[in-house]
Amino acid sequence: MKQTILVTGGTGFIGSHTTVELQQAGYEVVIIDNLSNSSANVVDGIEKITGVRPAFEKVDCCDMAALEGVFKKYPGIKGIIHFAASKAVGESVEKPLLYYRNNLNSLINLLELMPKYDVKGIIFSSSCTVYGQPTAENLPVTEKAPIQKALSPYGNTKQVNEEIIQDYIHSGAPIKSIILRYFNPIGAHPSALIGELPNGVPMNLIPFVTQTAIGIRKQLKIFGNDYDTPDGTCIRDYIYVVDLAKAHVKAMERVLDKPETDAVEVFNIGTGRGLSTLEVVEGFEKATGVKLNWEFAPRREGDIEKVWGNVDKANKELGWKAEANIDDVLRSAWKWQLKLREDGIQ
Ligand code: UD1
Repeated sequence: MKQTILVTGGTGFIGSHTTVELQQAGYEVVIIDNLSNSSANVVDGIEKITGVRPAFEKVDCCDMAALEGVFKKYPGIKGIIHFAASKAVGESVEKPLLYYRNNLNSLINLLELMPKYDVKGIIFSSSCTVYGQPTAENLPVTEKAPIQKALSPYGNTKQVNEEIIQDYIHSGAPIKSIILRYFNPIGAHPSALIGELPNGVPMNLIPFVTQTAIGIRKQLKIFGNDYDTPDGTCIRDYIYVVDLAKAHVKAMERVLDKPETDAVEVFNIGTGRGLSTLEVVEGFEKATGVKLNWEFAPRREGDIEKVWGNVDKANKELGWKAEANIDDVLRSAWKWQLKLREDGIQ
């Protein structure tokens, strides 16, 4: 029998790609999203790719009554993948209470409802941001590396949410959880029917690159070229969003179908390889044949110099591995940007 999964934030970037993979793996999906940073049209894209239209409810996870209504309307939800959250680092510094209220209340509401509606497992979207700048001996960073004080309220909500899950399960709550710490998700579905749609001026590298390439932005600034890295620019572990989506399917299978595993587990989800900002920019030009207008600019405040993941645990225990090749990933991001232009969206 098909199991039903609730995907919060399911019309967002990672949520939409994960819904596609869940449906293709045979799960039934109910999406909830408050549409604060995404559009209900995304559901059409998911349907076009998979041939199945996921259920969609415009609901804010902070609205307990509306959220409970979803569990009543769709009895039999067995698992939750919780993406819904505010995620702009800079905005979180300006509006900390908004971030704490939104990102903490939504998780607490879900956790509270799980036992009542017999929901067995929750996969939580965390971030490598919890490691801060790992020391040299902790690179590539493993799940055992120390958590460092967050540099922003956004980062802190990830840390606190991880603790809330741990504390709740240690208190004896009859649920299981897998916390996934993502590195830098990029790219778009190969069909170009779903992808990343940032609001306003993009903060993240790849949307800024593709918007510059298509002429929406004049010039890409590479923030800092005097870091202690081989070419002086920052290093990140860029993970293809479709590979990341597949990690959620593996995590859901593990949480629901493997009673022998621990009640809470943490996995890094990355490629295990670091790429510098310059390598990404040059790689984009090479993979797409498009020339980018860019220049070096001062460092961006709060940036980590270098971080990439040790993903052995996910490879071995989750049976998951990042497979995409970076050139294809960068081409998928470009194809998506071209599709947005074709559709008159950007
Ligand atoms: C950021 C957040 C991280 C969050 C993630 C979500 C910070 C410090 N970290 O990660 O907490 O989980 O987004 O996606 O904000 N870059 C440029 N020019 C640009 C944009 C980016 O040179 O116009 C560089 C950055 O300096 C960085 C790299 O590209 O070295 C990646 O940046 P970005 O995509 O913003 O991700 P992170 O900063 O790693």
